Amino acid sequence: MKQQYGQILTIPKPFVKWAGGKRQLIPILNENLPKTFGTYFEPFLGGGALLFHMLIEHNGQKCSISDLNSDLVLSYTTIRDRIESLIHSLKNHEKNYQKDSKSYYYSIRESNPRSQIEKTSRLIFLNRTCFNGLYRVNSKGKFNVPLGKYTNPNIVNEDNLRSVGHILQSSRVDIKCRDFEFVLRDAKKGDLVYFDPPYQPVSDTANFTSYTNKDFTYDDLGRLAELCIKLDSKGCRVLLSNSNSKEVSDMFSTKPWKINKIKANRSINSNSKKRTGHFELLIKNY
Ligand SMILES: C[S@@+](CC[C@H](N)C(=O)[O-])C[C@H]1O[C@@H](n2cnc3c(N)ncnc32)[C@H](O)[C@@H]1O
Repeated sequence: MKQQYGQILTIPKPFVKWAGGKRQLIPILNENLPKTFGTYFEPFLGGGALLFHMLIEHNGQKCSISDLNSDLVLSYTTIRDRIESLIHSLKNHEKNYQKDSKSYYYSIRESNPRSQIEKTSRLIFLNRTCFNGLYRVNSKGKFNVPLGKYTNPNIVNEDNLRSVGHILQSSRVDIKCRDFEFVLRDAKKGDLVYFDPPYQPVSDTANFTSYTNKDFTYDDLGRLAELCIKLDSKGCRVLLSNSNSKEVSDMFSTKPWKINKIKANRSINSNSKKRTGHFELLIKNY
């Protein structure tokens, strides 16, 4: 599969920069995957770093992916089903942005398009041009990140979008917008479920990112821990990422959970002394 991508298309990678994205942790996540499994479930999809790795490495892998952010989920289906119209719309954004980036950015941020294409191209455009490529909404669900400082942002990134569209079309991927708990209905014995929820803050003052108009609370973490136990009794393999926080290690302190503290570098730097290292938890039942 990798070779096929080398020849005709670029290797697909996340089409949005997403807070908590796992691209830099792929090698360690890969080492922690079970050798064999049935369907791959990813109920906190975000930018889907592990999903794309899965699709490239495991040809024909059946996947079931979901997220609560409806605009994000819509983007995956738009890229899969309507790539040409999407690229056309993004090119329009690019042209207008080049004329007057500031006023165009804020006019699009304020807009509320109804069509599938316009909604998706707005999300990708804002993600490419906003400060830090963050996705953050207020309590009313309104995107509220200011304009970023870029001289020449890659708004269209056509090769990657085509490649993502191609792999989603040719693979067995089921895409849904829903709360993570619904995974219990579908996952069966031998399936793998990877949970990468919004992280538990490590301190009261830690920054919290709102991916949807509903924050991920301590109660949600409790719901997730209970769900993990139910999936374990069903015979599913469960892998979970979270922050190195006491709340999380307390909730997963008993059998069957094995907790690994892993080093997560926030930025890639050839000089290891300049890396800003911190620890995260990787928890699994196998
Ligand atoms: C840490 S991000 C996932 C990052 C992803 N692994 C990546 O590589 O980009 C967490 C995701 O969970 C989603 N989310 C938040 N609450 C949710 C819920 N109750 N059910 C399902 N998804 C939820 C957010 O929209 C966000 O995309």
